[in-house]
Amino acid sequence: MTRKILVTSALPYANGSIHLGHLVEYIQTDVWVRFQKMRGNACWYVCADDTHGTPVMLRAEKEGISPEALVERVRGEHMRDFAGFHVGFDNYYSTHSEETRHFANEIYRRLKDKGLIEARTIEQYFDPVKSIFLPDRFIKGECPQCHAKDQYGDNCEACGAAYAPTDLIEPYSAVSGAKPELRHSEHYFFRLSDPRCEEFLRAYTGKDSGVLQTEAGNKMQEWLGEPGEHKLTDWDISRDAPYFGFEIPDAPGKYFYVWLDAPIGYMGSFKNLCDRQGMDFDEYWKKDSAAELYHFIGKDILYFHALFWPAELAHADYRTPTKIFAHGFLTVDGAKMSKSRGTFITAESYLAQKLDPEWLRYYYAAKLSASMEDIDLNLDDFIARVNSDLVGKFVNIASRSAGFISKRFGGRLAPCDVELPAWQAVAKHAPSIAEHFEAREYGKALREIMALADAANQYVDSVKPWELAKQEGRELELHAACSNALNLFRQIAILLKPVLPALASKVEAFFNCAPFAWNDVGQPLAAGHEINPYQHLMTRADKKQIDALVAANRESLAPAEAPAEVAAEAIASGKAAATSSTTSSAKTTMTESAATPAAAAPSVSPTIAIDDFMKLDLRIARIADAGPVEGAEKLIRLSLDLGPLGTRQVFAGIKSAYDPASLIGRMTVMVANLAPRKMRFGLSEGMVLAASDGEGGAPGIYLLAPDAGAQPGMRVK
Ligand code: 2FM
Ligand code: ZN
Repeated sequence: MTRKILVTSALPYANGSIHLGHLVEYIQTDVWVRFQKMRGNACWYVCADDTHGTPVMLRAEKEGISPEALVERVRGEHMRDFAGFHVGFDNYYSTHSEETRHFANEIYRRLKDKGLIEARTIEQYFDPVKSIFLPDRFIKGECPQCHAKDQYGDNCEACGAAYAPTDLIEPYSAVSGAKPELRHSEHYFFRLSDPRCEEFLRAYTGKDSGVLQTEAGNKMQEWLGEPGEHKLTDWDISRDAPYFGFEIPDAPGKYFYVWLDAPIGYMGSFKNLCDRQGMDFDEYWKKDSAAELYHFIGKDILYFHALFWPAELAHADYRTPTKIFAHGFLTVDGAKMSKSRGTFITAESYLAQKLDPEWLRYYYAAKLSASMEDIDLNLDDFIARVNSDLVGKFVNIASRSAGFISKRFGGRLAPCDVELPAWQAVAKHAPSIAEHFEAREYGKALREIMALADAANQYVDSVKPWELAKQEGRELELHAACSNALNLFRQIAILLKPVLPALASKVEAFFNCAPFAWNDVGQPLAAGHEINPYQHLMTRADKKQIDALVAANRESLAPAEAPAEVAAEAIASGKAAATSSTTSSAKTTMTESAATPAAAAPSVSPTIAIDDFMKLDLRIARIADAGPVEGAEKLIRLSLDLGPLGTRQVFAGIKSAYDPASLIGRMTVMVANLAPRKMRFGLSEGMVLAASDGEGGAPGIYLLAPDAGAQPGMRVK
């Protein structure tokens, strides 16, 4: 029977780039979805950008664009990155959509009608300079436990303590640096503590429900506690204006908290797909739906998906998720991804360095299981595994036999010998391989598939087509050997297709076949079937490529973690450079040239497309104020007037060349859309542009200046 299945991955935030950590989940989900589609099930995979909240609002403000424009741009970047790794969403939407707004309002109204929404006055930190209430992550101060400075408002990165922002010693706003004030405000709460919610959740996530993995079920027990303990607390679902989000219908100036509408974005994205494709949304979401609903998530957001989300859905008269699949985190070479080590690798950089996305798909799949354990991307093992399994075992079967079929037999296959042990092994193992894919035990599936590849190679080794080819009168044997080998190769390609869809599509073209489906397993190609000339299917991974990838991520991100003085020194590397002590995770040409050590022979940076250049928002700025920075010899604190775009503070490493007082009043050019950086001296909100002739010696730094007539805030292109 054809199953109706709706699958989601967590919605990535619209204020960051996709990196290899994210990709564990999207690849895990995509493999599962592709497997379901190959089985002939009606399986839909939807996702969206998670767009709302204070960080997006502030970033848009910094860039001088609307939040709507920002989330649309980022959505384009995310879609490009996912497509690059062959993540095949049926719809990639945005939570900032009318569909999501509709369902958020409706769920809120239904919960309210059931007495599950309550208004309450709370105390929260307020930034008097920016006039906004501050989320916990935007308040910093001294840890109350270990007294480490500059810790976030929710927990300390130095000692791990968790606390309330009000516990911080000498708190300051990470947005403006101002001392925050405690203010009262009315917030709306979802009454998770209501006995109806607790009762529902105990039944929904109970041991026999099968909704959660064992480890997740145990977590859930911890959160629910024993009956009578009443451990669940209400959830604050509103935020005050200004906020980028959906205004609550009956509460002007109050907005749904980003986490309220994020999962509702799953519904919004699917509704949008249904409307475009003439499908019935209710069939998948109505209370008694027979369709299956699966959420793939990281273990860090289990609380939102296993508690709030099902409780909301159940009490708003919708269906609840069939299962929630949580995975662990990614480590690289055994450690947390690190910008300074270059292991915080963006999807974009991986593709830009021309690494094959299917290498990563294969490696992740080989490491993935149904558990919540973390997975490690060991870079040496990555190269070894890809080369040995994909190139050495899989592709090798075809590359040793395909040429003879084209050259000696007009591209036509002989009958396949289905009595061969290697062929019989395929038929024998296919059902358990399918079970492993279904159960998300991809590592087990791939081990069995590679054992089949080993058997196929043993067959090729035993018949030695290259020797048969040299001997007269052995044409029939050669034809049979190569045809058998290619049929085995095709079977393995079918089994690998959920993991390697692009490679499978090349193999389909080589065999002149319709797209592989699971029921092609066990079916040999007919005698006389004509195949196309063999073309190279996959190259070997090279250590140099990995080194370049790590270096690219280290170089382009280094200023983000480097102290101001280091970034300032980078200016002395020669060529035109942007001078700044700011950070950027954006890989602008300028950041790269500033961070690249002086090369022996002068040369320009690698060519970029006009689109890359257009990502830079360069603006005319008037230096309204300039002064020294205590404790930083090389820096000047600049206050830059951007006319209608307001004023920015920038720390520039130009003290060796300029007396601060001489700069006041002059015009220059700045990068206005660089991510702001909290430094120990204050917030740096951009870069000024300067040329430098330094060849390792004393830098001659020359600030750029526009011709007369240019006004503060004008765009430079
Ligand atoms: O943790 C995150 O990255 C969230 N943006 C995930 C949201 S998942 C869903 F609820 F939308
Ligand atoms: Zn601490």
